[in-house]
Amino acid sequence: INKGNGVKGLSDLGIKSLPSQYIQPQEALINIIPQESIPVIDMSNWNEDPKVAESVCEAAEKFGFFQLVNHGVPLEVLDGVKDATHRFFGLPAEEKRKYSKELSSTNSVRFGTSFSPDAEKALEWKDYLSLFYVFLEYMKRSQILCQKLMSALMQKLNVKEIDETKESLLMGSKRINLNYYPRCPNPQLTVGVGRHSDVSSLTFLLQDEIGGLYVRVNEGKGEKDGWVHVPPIEGSLVINVGDALQILSNGRYKSVEHCVIASGSKNRISIPIFVNPKPNDVIGPSPELIAAGEKPKYKNILYSDYVKHFFRKAHDGKKTVAFAE
Ligand code: SIN
Ligand code: FE2
Repeated sequence: INKGNGVKGLSDLGIKSLPSQYIQPQEALINIIPQESIPVIDMSNWNEDPKVAESVCEAAEKFGFFQLVNHGVPLEVLDGVKDATHRFFGLPAEEKRKYSKELSSTNSVRFGTSFSPDAEKALEWKDYLSLFYVFLEYMKRSQILCQKLMSALMQKLNVKEIDETKESLLMGSKRINLNYYPRCPNPQLTVGVGRHSDVSSLTFLLQDEIGGLYVRVNEGKGEKDGWVHVPPIEGSLVINVGDALQILSNGRYKSVEHCVIASGSKNRISIPIFVNPKPNDVIGPSPELIAAGEKPKYKNILYSDYVKHFFRKAHDGKKTVAFAE
């Protein structure tokens, strides 16, 4: 019915009930634990106070997710990115369609809907534009922040220097996505994004004021195992560890499941930057950790194969388990 105009096209038509292909199975729905939350870290004193970096490492170990405020990426830059996202999704359908997989002249720009429609039994209520190396100012500003975080995370693992090999593994390639989750007629029957962990090493997420991102906490800990909301904070960035960094740190930093709930009343946007290894890098537990006597918890794998494995299936939980030693 939507002829390549995404879920925004459906939402704009004013449909009163959710088309059946978006109805998710029961397992996709989550139980929310209201008493927990992920850390919010103020970076104002990063240079003066080593405790700030320490709290970043602790958050990456315990939750795999945290929010940063006073991170140095100017608010005007963040607002510019959000404006541009609204402008893109507000374009007429035929303009957006020029960037679809079928019509786009380049692999580095891709307009799409859901996640992997060919592999999914039920679709996700989300449209996106995925871009390789664009939105330059935002990418440049967040790169400085990324280097700070990575060097703190590596120091904690006794990796003293980020040499060329490590630089490539930790942040050798980047992709930015613009996500659009339109108002949905039956939000409780579907998902914006199903439960998954990211394939990145780190993800930097800019979200608007609507909310809807949930993160899994206390995995495997019985009644405490559940999902917490990541509340929107003006000017903040949400950072999460991805599978590549979990593997590289031999499980020390956690790549945790998260998902996005659809909204019945509001259109939401989010803009993640995925900081990834290069496609031809082989990822595996860092040699420093193994030299220090740790047993490798993961097999070595070509990063592009790992990514292929991820896109071959719907969003249905974590993928690192397949590569455990
Ligand atoms: C994602 O994790 O894929 C999207 C996160 C978000 O939209 O908040
Ligand atoms: Fe994600």
